[in-house]
Amino acid sequence: MAQDAIRMDGKVAIVTGGAGGIGGATARLLTARGAKVVIADIAFARAIDLARELPGAHALEVDLEDPQSVENMVEETLAHFGRLDVLHNNAALLGPDVALADTDVESMDTAFWDRTFAINVRGTMIACRTALPHLRASKGNIVNTVTNLALQGHIVQAAYSSSKAAIIQMTRAIAASHGVHGVRCNAVAPGMTVTPSLLEAFPAGLREAVEAETLRDRLGAPEDIAEAVAFLASDAARNVTGEVLVCDGGSASHVPGLAPFRAFLAAGG
Ligand SMILES: NC(=O)c1ccc[n+]([C@@H]2O[C@H](COP(=O)([O-])OP(=O)(O)OC[C@H]3O[C@@H](n4cnc5c(N)ncnc54)[C@H](O)[C@@H]3O)[C@@H](O)[C@H]2O)c1
Repeated sequence: MAQDAIRMDGKVAIVTGGAGGIGGATARLLTARGAKVVIADIAFARAIDLARELPGAHALEVDLEDPQSVENMVEETLAHFGRLDVLHNNAALLGPDVALADTDVESMDTAFWDRTFAINVRGTMIACRTALPHLRASKGNIVNTVTNLALQGHIVQAAYSSSKAAIIQMTRAIAASHGVHGVRCNAVAPGMTVTPSLLEAFPAGLREAVEAETLRDRLGAPEDIAEAVAFLASDAARNVTGEVLVCDGGSASHVPGLAPFRAFLAAGG
């Protein structure tokens, strides 16, 4: 078993936001490892395009802001594939307008805050609630995508980071309640990852500032995050639950100020 534990043959996974950058890479990797994957996204046309490329993939339209739509996503997956082994809650409210609207708490718009929590937190909760009986039957698991911004403070994205911190706690609560029934629940916390929506929302100067803090030679790619998700979703992670796997190229692992410190030394200071 250990040798093939990373394989996903016979498993059925839902990837929300599966038509996006990280979700798309994860759908590709899971199907390559043998899973049947539901690509669930509000961007249905893009979900259909990707599903056409991937053997064993199926596109579904979902709006995480709409509780009924989220419940339907799980039920339609069962109707289509007959089982559910992995729920990957990856979709989130993102984009250039969102990044501009989401600053600090003092200037926060209440409706924007509520929408962020409706999509990111309530949507994730309803997906988990609906999926849990089926995951209990399959001894399956949940992987939630959060962010390193949910673990450390920043001067941007107060609503987004708070919503993702709530998902971390939901991850632990589900792991604690359902581990006894054989259901695992983990989170992956990407650092800045180069996806089309990231390129749209963050100018090069800001991306370079974050890149300077990584311990690698580049920012993360969607495929890097997909590998972490696929590990947590697989039997290779059978003894891992209630955890947050930080996947940020080491950005959050070091003492603050590494980038200017490195620049100072490089300049002969
Ligand atoms: N890219 C990064 O730098 C980064 C860093 C940390 C965490 N993340 C997280 O990774 C995940 C994927 O991000 P990405 O960079 O691939 O972004 P993306 O925009 O490429 O993907 C997000 C997907 O979610 C879908 N979506 C948005 N609202 C939805 C809704 N209401 N219902 C259903 N689907 C909806 C979008 O259509 C899109 O396909 C998100 O949870 C994000 O918070 C990304």
